[in-house]
Amino acid sequence: MDHGTMLHLVKFTHVSMVILSYLLFWTRGLWMIRDPARLQRRWVRTVPHVIDTLLLASGITLAVLIHQYPLVDGWLTAKLIGLIAYIGLGLVALRLGRRRTTRIAAWIAAQGVFFYIVAVAVSRNPLPFSALL
Ligand code: HEM
Repeated sequence: MDHGTMLHLVKFTHVSMVILSYLLFWTRGLWMIRDPARLQRRWVRTVPHVIDTLLLASGITLAVLIHQYPLVDGWLTAKLIGLIAYIGLGLVALRLGRRRTTRIAAWIAAQGVFFYIVAVAVSRNPLPFSALL
């Protein structure tokens, strides 16, 4: 397989996992608010981990394919820091937050971080909204 085809395939996988990851996070947040028992079902506890692992693995593969790396290229550093913040806020929202308001606030903040990461990815700029300032 040539490099271009490979890049397209991995990028398609990456973006598909981005969409699935977001939809699952959004759905789990609604369940957390309305019907937390649903979060305990086996598939709900396992499938998101599989998708998020594929998301990370495809991201790392893309970085290798285009020779751009976190801690070297600013936009990938920003994505990585964003990803860590997204994971942390997600943990607070779905598992660690004690009060309902804390969990809901973390869930909303995580979505802000998520869209920041998407904006960084598309613009390849750690300050994707700087053109608006
Ligand atoms: C929540 C986490 C992530 C989200 C929402 C996300 C989102 C995206 C999106 C939407 C694109 C497509 C950009 C475009 O085609 O214009 C993309 C591309 C890419 N992502 Fe991610 N990503 C995430 C995590 C990561 C991670 C952890 C890495 C690497 C360590 C990574 C590395 C890349 C690379 C190298 C590209 C290719 C950019 C290009 O070829 O233009 N991503 N990402």
